[in-house]
Order: sequence, then structure tokens, then C-alpha cells
Amino acid sequence: MNRFLVTSVLGRPALEFHETIDSTNLRARELALAGGQEGTLVAAERQTQGRGRLGRAWHSPPGLNLYFSLILRPPLSPEHTTCLTLAAGLGAAEAIERITKRRPDIKWPNDLLISGRKICGILSEMEVRAGRADFVILGLGLNVNLGPEHLPPEIASLAGSLLIATGRPWDRAQLLAALLNGIEGAYFDLVRGRRAAILSRYREHCVTLGSMVEVAQGTTRRRGRAVDIDESGGLIVESLDDGRRITVDAGEVTLIKPTPLENP
Ligand code: BTN
Repeated sequence: MNRFLVTSVLGRPALEFHETIDSTNLRARELALAGGQEGTLVAAERQTQGRGRLGRAWHSPPGLNLYFSLILRPPLSPEHTTCLTLAAGLGAAEAIERITKRRPDIKWPNDLLISGRKICGILSEMEVRAGRADFVILGLGLNVNLGPEHLPPEIASLAGSLLIATGRPWDRAQLLAALLNGIEGAYFDLVRGRRAAILSRYREHCVTLGSMVEVAQGTTRRRGRAVDIDESGGLIVESLDDGRRITVDAGEVTLIKPTPLENP
């Protein structure tokens, strides 16, 4: 991987590669709590308790994919960490495009899809101390050489991989380096005040914009059209009922797939 790595921080202070681990996010958190430096990388061939967003599991079979987590110590207030997650997704999407020449779509906040199938997910977990983000664990899973035969039935129609998208296997070490390079570039842009540029590149990839979404807040569910991303990375949704605009958090939004009749 080192041959391809051009980062100055990510993957530099410490690296851990595990054959098997419960979750790289859990291990990175342990290291961060013990004072692990920004850029520390924990990667694994296989996870036994790979974790996804919203309490879901992340399918983590051995030898096919990438599973890794980074310790970040961003000089950002907690409310700006949504942007950090968006920047990481953007950096990853741009890196994948650079290597494979296929441009992933981003489903807000940071699922990467090719041909409508999810190939990559990011789980960022923040530890706040005294009103500041003490550290963020950024965990990324990328389906690389996973074939249709490796997909469990419950995700078979939703998940994809680079192999499925392109019909050929990819070098995981090269991809890992490219992802670190891409994520670091976007992360540095963000912390150096180039948030507007990050968000405008993000919008170009984001397939959620223009789509119908369902927003769940408390016990109410409303439908609307996703119209923009605000400067903190929140999704702005225009209500179907009254045209009012609200900004929502990731946990509250699901994309509504158009039926053939709605979208002839
Ligand atoms: C998602 O639900 O889309 C986020 C998936 C994140 C999976 C990665 S794999 C490496 C890291 N360790 C984990 O347990 N989860 C993240």
C-alpha cells in the first residue's frame, strides 16, 4: 500500500492490520481513548461484528473487501462533523472514480452506489468532550471483489461491489491507499476552511437531491423533495403538504423509490 500512499497524516502515525477483529471501529475507539494519534489506521481482513449505520450489521467476509477505521481529531465543533462525514464520502467517491473510472453516486449522507447498488458505507462515531469533538472514528467498508454468490439474500438486491460493477477484480492495497489519499484531501479542504468547495463537489455526486424522501420525526412521517444540502451538511427537504423547508438529520430520512408510474 505504501507505494501508492501520498498522505501526510492518514495511515502515518500507526497502522494495525488484523486477520480477524470484531469491528475496526471498536478497536480504533479503544486506541483513541488511550491517546491514539490522528491518522491512526486499523484495518482488517474480516470482521465478526462489522457495524453499519442505524444499528445495522455490516457484512464483512474475509479476503474480498476493505474494512478500516481512522482516528481523526478534527478542530471542528460537533455541529460541523456532519460535513466531515460528507467530506469523507466525497473523498472516497473521488478516489474510487480515479482508480476504476466509474463514478459512484452518493446517497446522502454517505452511501456510495454504482448502478443503484451500495458498494461502500461509512460509519462515523464522535466522542465529545467539553463541547468539542475530542475524536471521530471514521470507519469505511468497501465491497471490492465480492461476487453475487457472496451476498446474503437479505442484501442481494441492494448491495454491489466494484467487481460486480466493472466485471473485473481490483487490487485492494492500491484502493486502500487511494481512499486514504482521497479522504485526506477532502478532510484537509474542510478543516482549512474550504467547506463551500467540498459541498459543491458533494452536490454534484449526490443522487438524493431532487428525489422524494420520507422524513420521520418523532411519530410523524412526512414526504417531501430533497432540494439542497445546507452549509452544515444537513439535508433540506421541501414538504409535499405545504412547501415548507426543513433541515433533517441522517437517521430521519429514507429515499422513496419512484414507481414506474411516477417516473415513466
Ligand atoms: C453503513 O451502514 O453504511 C456504514 C458501514 C460502515 C462499515 C465499516 S467496515 C469498517 C468499520 N468497522 C465497522 O464495524 N464498521 C465500519
